[in-house]
Amino acid sequence: MADNIGNIDAKEYYLGVDGVENKSFHVKGAEHLDWGMKNRLAKIFNEKSGNTVMLAFDHGYIMGPTSGLERLDIVIPPLIEHVDCIMATRGSIRSCISPNIDKAICLRIGYDSSVLYDDMSNGGGVACNIENAIRMNATCLAAQTFIGSSGEKNSLELLAKTVDAGVKYSIPTLGVVAVGKEMERTTKFFQLATRILAENGANIVKSYYCDDFEKVVAACPVPIVIAGGKKLPEAEALTMAYRAISEGARGVDMGRNIFQSEHPEAMCGAIGKVVHENFTDKEAYEFFLDIANSKNE
Ligand code: 5RP
Repeated sequence: MADNIGNIDAKEYYLGVDGVENKSFHVKGAEHLDWGMKNRLAKIFNEKSGNTVMLAFDHGYIMGPTSGLERLDIVIPPLIEHVDCIMATRGSIRSCISPNIDKAICLRIGYDSSVLYDDMSNGGGVACNIENAIRMNATCLAAQTFIGSSGEKNSLELLAKTVDAGVKYSIPTLGVVAVGKEMERTTKFFQLATRILAENGANIVKSYYCDDFEKVVAACPVPIVIAGGKKLPEAEALTMAYRAISEGARGVDMGRNIFQSEHPEAMCGAIGKVVHENFTDKEAYEFFLDIANSKNE
């Protein structure tokens, strides 16, 4: 067991140096996975850009009818054509999304404490088992973890069970770094949490953009996608996405900054331009305004 006192700080990240693996498959850390895993990852990550736009609308699983998501059946369907993957619970997908969609499905498989509790890391467990995930034709399984909180052990067990079940059927796992009430939001925290999730088997890690983000990315052996967090003005959200992609994120798994925009479709499209087409934040914002203004006419 490594002694955790007096460790030398990590500092050599080989920034700008290409990985020695990943010559034959476009998803970081997936070179040695089997065909089914790669096929599913290739459905999430576009082969040309190497990136993904995931639309997160799972907020209701702890927050109830979140602003912008009061009516999933009305709000979400028009956005789907603009994204590569949807991330949600089985209940919302089954009831509000047509099975005719041809997009990747990232299924949240755990439950957590509702917002009625002070801290959502209180406790959680399996909300959807692997058989049901397969019935939902899940492309990916999402498990949330609470590194540094009282829920850490439980959530790492959930992650491990999810990874094991996913490996059995070649379904990759997205490990979600949660930032609960008590948790830090420092570069050091995100480095720690993303690396722990990857080492415990997550094939993709969802985290937050932070200072020195390229060091977080460099030290994480699988792709990182960023959450959007609370609603920002569109220009700022696009700048965050642009910086994250420029510093190595392989996509976004964004919710509120899309569906709480006055023009969610335009925002979705603009995010896609940054993620897949090398648009700068300013170019993407102009794109957003053009679409938004045309809708207002
Ligand atoms: C929280 C999640 C949520 O899906 C995600 O954070 C929501 O996206 P956004 O922050 O962009 O609204 O995984 O743990």
